Amino acid sequence: MRTEVAIIGAGPAGLLLGALLARAGVETVILERKSRDYVLGRIRAGVLEQGTVDLLARAGVEARLRREGLVHEGFFMGFANRRLRIDLTELTGGRHVTVYGQTEVTRDLMDSRDAAGLTTIYEAEDVAIHDFDRDTPCVTWVKDGVHHRLDCDFIAGCDGFHGVCRASVPSGAIQLFEKVYPFGWLGVLADVPPCSHELIYANHARGFALCSMRSPTRSRYYVQVPADEDVGAWSDQRFWDELRLRLDPEAADRVVTGPSIEKSIAPLRSFVAEPLRFGRLFLAGDAAHIVPPTGAKGLNLAAGDAYYLSEALAEHYRERSDAGIRAYSERALARIWKSERFSWSLTMLLHRFDTMSPFEQRMQEADFRYVESSRAAQTAIAENYVGLPL
Ligand code: APR
Ligand code: PHB
Repeated sequence: MRTEVAIIGAGPAGLLLGALLARAGVETVILERKSRDYVLGRIRAGVLEQGTVDLLARAGVEARLRREGLVHEGFFMGFANRRLRIDLTELTGGRHVTVYGQTEVTRDLMDSRDAAGLTTIYEAEDVAIHDFDRDTPCVTWVKDGVHHRLDCDFIAGCDGFHGVCRASVPSGAIQLFEKVYPFGWLGVLADVPPCSHELIYANHARGFALCSMRSPTRSRYYVQVPADEDVGAWSDQRFWDELRLRLDPEAADRVVTGPSIEKSIAPLRSFVAEPLRFGRLFLAGDAAHIVPPTGAKGLNLAAGDAYYLSEALAEHYRERSDAGIRAYSERALARIWKSERFSWSLTMLLHRFDTMSPFEQRMQEADFRYVESSRAAQTAIAENYVGLPL
């Protein structure tokens, strides 16, 4: 079997890259370790930058998103039972974000890929990548006990944080930057109307809480918990009680409770690999970087990588120029580090750290008071939240 670009991983990074390359006439095969249903069962964030929506439109998957996505022109930051609205649209000259679940983005991309007759191989076991430092790379895997091989020109490592691609790079050729936060987010999905029509990110003495949503009838809530917390210790009732304690009285009053349909704990991490190209292997999405979810940047960063990489590969096939391929790592990393900075700073502002000294605690309060009083500070948050230009 042969293709032009072998894509490892059918998450948003791999699927969007495949869709953008298809538009550019570049052939791809996607290899995914899990089943389609398993991938679609993962609940992840749900805030899309306008640039991400534009990329999905370019990839031909905007119809349902335009119909069902919720346009948000602002969000709230809570501190000490007070609430500050960041007016995204007013502060950024008319921009907004769209609330639409990552699961739905993934489903739309999978459906469109299937409709176009493009190859995606699910449940590919023991995927291994070979010879990406030569002109003739290939990928091998096992499916239903049978060994397979795919020859290709390039390999796109879109296989997430725990994937095989980054792990296949010799350790001397890659540098890793990492910060692990001493807490996680306990998330609950429930079919209840959201307590606020816009997201609320709340810093409270008991810990951070986030009120988000998937639709007017489906809410997504999170509370900060210790990193080693057992999800089994959290009954629905305990979750709802804790959430209410961390919100300002008005928001707490409006929380409608109901049975959870998903409940899980995600660790918080900042992570960047450098560089993102190793000969004919590229890293994109969570394989290349992780941001804590506080800034809602994970999916949007993956989309940015897919854009830069698709442009570079299209240029290779269309114009016989490798300038874009040579520039990919630097171009993508410039934007990645800015998103890392924003996600890290919002995480530091909004969470409670057991290790914080009284001085650092006062600094956090002063930081919030400054944002409250300064249009310039609010503008900086807004321009990052709606997404820096691609
Ligand atoms: N072989 C094949 N596929 C693999 C392998 C492997 N060895 N390892 C992992 N995968 C698959 C995973 O099963 C997953 O479906 O790669 C895919 C990676 O998808 P994601 O984890 O969703 O990562 P990405 O596409 O980069 O999307 C980034 O996901 O985690 C969120 O916050 C993040 O929103 C961001 C987005
Ligand atoms: C979510 O809806 O899951 C969500 C929203 C915003 C974030 C993180 C997660 O910053």
